[in-house]
Amino acid sequence: MNAAGNAHPRPLLAARDLRVRIGGRHILHDVHLDVAPHGVTALLGRNGAGKTTTVRAILGLVPRTGSILLDGQDVSGLRTHVLVRRGIGYAPEDRGVFTALTVAENLRLAERPGSRPPDYALVHDLFPELRQRAGQPAGTLSGGQQQMVAIARTLLADNRLVIVDEPTKGLAPKIVTEVAEALERAARAVPVLMVEQNLAVVRRLATTCAVLVDGRTAYAGEAAPLLADPRATRRLLGVASGSTRGGQDPPGARASAAESPDTREAQS
Ligand SMILES: Nc1ncnc2c1ncn2[C@@H]1O[C@H](COP(=O)(O)OP(=O)(O)OP(=O)(O)O)[C@@H](O)[C@H]1O
Ligand SMILES: [Mg+2]
Repeated sequence: MNAAGNAHPRPLLAARDLRVRIGGRHILHDVHLDVAPHGVTALLGRNGAGKTTTVRAILGLVPRTGSILLDGQDVSGLRTHVLVRRGIGYAPEDRGVFTALTVAENLRLAERPGSRPPDYALVHDLFPELRQRAGQPAGTLSGGQQQMVAIARTLLADNRLVIVDEPTKGLAPKIVTEVAEALERAARAVPVLMVEQNLAVVRRLATTCAVLVDGRTAYAGEAAPLLADPRATRRLLGVASGSTRGGQDPPGARASAAESPDTREAQS
């Protein structure tokens, strides 16, 4: 932290020594994660690295040990519904959309009485299609449209942090771009923790990131220097940063191998 306190502002959420054991098996060993107070923080890692378990641990959906600070307050012992009331929105990996309900009904379920009125203006501005499809059963939406419902629900309520788990998974490139654009705009309104494997999306959206390897944090810091280092991304993520899933790296993607002094790798 510099004298002005601006270079490294206090993280919105800080998880330390996060450990999860399920059925006698250690899934998370020592995860530390800082979510920046602005913009998008990416949580990266190969399949099975523990990304979803980490967000579920933060939300109290799996038994965990370690400490979690939200805005500097210890929320480690809080149950999921309390954390949600404290302003953490969650769009899960399976999207969690109620398929038999309409789009409008799905959104209405996300309204949180007692807080400020639901921000339908923001949601309809980001996802105009959802207004047009308000009466359509969510189960008949495309994967991308269902993802939009899932993200929209997190934005309706007065959340101070939104967590989205693999928002672009399984989507066609054009829809990936649409979802990324919406998240980019959403992140101007509320900080986002985004689990993502598409490095083009990470490059576009995230300023900071953490990489998990086998349930441990192996990198925490700025996203750009990591993504500019194909050797590091190959080692940590199993994919060189020039070649992303689906080949969706933009032609202007940075290719410099120069490592910034900010690059920190906790594990060699
Ligand atoms: N409830 C559970 N019971 C047993 N094992 C689990 C459970 N949940 C997760 N795991 C295991 O923990 C490891 C991490 O899983 P997790 O879903 O967190 O990975 P991930 O990084 O989100 O992977 P992906 O990219 O495939 O979504 C995996 O080996 C998984 O099989
Ligand atoms: Mg996952």
